[in-house]
Amino acid sequence: MRWWQTGVVYQIYPRSFADATGDGVGDLEGIRGRLDHLAWLGVDALWLSPIFRSPMKDFGYDVADYCDVDPLFGTLADFDRLLADAHARGLRVLLDWVPNHTSDQHPWFRESRASRQSPKRGWYVWRDPAPGGGPPNNWRAAFPRGTPAWTLDAATGQHYLHLFLPGQPDLDWSNPDVRRAMHEVLRFWLDRGVDGFRVDVVHGLGKDPRLPDLPPELAAIPQSALNDHESTHEILRELRRTVDAYPENRVLVGEVWLLLARTHARYFGRGDELHLLFELPAAVLTPWDAGAWRERVADVAGRLDPIGAWPTWVLSNHDVPRHRTRFGSEAAARSAAVLLLTLRGTPFLYQGEELGLEDADVPAGRAVDPGGRDGCRAPVPWDGSAGHGWPAPPWLPWPPEPERRNVERLRADPGSILHLYRRLLALRRASPALHAGSLRLLDAPARVLAYERAAGPDRRTVLVNFGAEPARCPASGRIEVASDGAGEGAAYGGVLAPGEAVVLRP
Ligand code: NOJ
Repeated sequence: MRWWQTGVVYQIYPRSFADATGDGVGDLEGIRGRLDHLAWLGVDALWLSPIFRSPMKDFGYDVADYCDVDPLFGTLADFDRLLADAHARGLRVLLDWVPNHTSDQHPWFRESRASRQSPKRGWYVWRDPAPGGGPPNNWRAAFPRGTPAWTLDAATGQHYLHLFLPGQPDLDWSNPDVRRAMHEVLRFWLDRGVDGFRVDVVHGLGKDPRLPDLPPELAAIPQSALNDHESTHEILRELRRTVDAYPENRVLVGEVWLLLARTHARYFGRGDELHLLFELPAAVLTPWDAGAWRERVADVAGRLDPIGAWPTWVLSNHDVPRHRTRFGSEAAARSAAVLLLTLRGTPFLYQGEELGLEDADVPAGRAVDPGGRDGCRAPVPWDGSAGHGWPAPPWLPWPPEPERRNVERLRADPGSILHLYRRLLALRRASPALHAGSLRLLDAPARVLAYERAAGPDRRTVLVNFGAEPARCPASGRIEVASDGAGEGAAYGGVLAPGEAVVLRP
């Protein structure tokens, strides 16, 4: 098995992780200074949300230079140091590559925009206005939601396409020069030693060349008939070849956001497209309900096992409210950690979930994100001091209770959710059943999800009580990890406490 199958990935949102320079925005040196903590926690790899040069209209997902680090975050030399120090601790590093669009400040777009005759005109999607004037078709942008996905460039009299902000023009991936340039970007970072990429908006890369009008309810990301064009798959096969040409199992993890879960599996191709992918939005929005999770686990296995594809599991990221907030209690967040770290597939953690962080309450006057996602991007509190380990007030407000929910305090408390994550990560690493084995759903009472993981003689049983009542659920074994820490090391007595999850060793 590959490292990206057996390992656990930790997503860092660099602006909000740790600030070394004292400007209130996190940076690479800040991350480097916290590597020992991440190694202590026990994750295997870090995924850094974009660190490239950017005007930050979409906080880094608008890239103005794919081969340089934004000065807010540091320099290429800082990145090299971070990568070396991470590798020295056995932590791999994935970058967040944004191929669907650039910033409107990227030199490619500036050149493309300069004239209709520009050699880079065809790098982006330019069209004449509709016959009566106005946008060339009815496609809608993600931000601001519902606005046209086209902006008129008055100087050249044509519109350019942007599925996101006007400051994020879409590249035209049918253009071989674009592909060549982007493959060079990948090689630039692969040559530097990165272990792979999280790939943004994979589902949008290929476009229907006719750019047809769509039924209005399907004309916007994410609903969207404008996603998921057949030509994306050839693009992915080429990317896969570039990445696979490198030694040591570099990886492509795609962000695929399609409403029908069953449409995602095609992005694995025949084992020649993405190595891993997020099945969004189901991945991050499945409610905290035993039936819903049972169905989802069965559905994922039913679709991916037959094609030899490996699932991912994720509960939170920088785009959606944190699951601690969605699920409504720390008890649920603790049981969710047991689930996330014992399912069959690669878990992705989002910074701060190991602290049980909730979304920040961001007053209107401090809101900055065009997509309304500030709450889940609140800074990580490192200690209980007034500045919580940040040398200057951070760019967003703190999440709730930073004086209690901070790294230093939770590290000192063996009963904390942070220690629960650490125990689960250690157990997962030590147990072939958990990091590589099969998964079999077991019969269980209505509000309980039960499954067995097995690899040869190594076996574990996982029981998750989603209900607010105690649940009788017969199984035998010693409690290895319990979401509330109760009874670890003792024999399981056949009853789960309200909201409790346990891992049993038969
Ligand atoms: C998905 C990213 O996760 C999100 O943060 C971003 O706004 C869009 N793609 C556009 O790049």
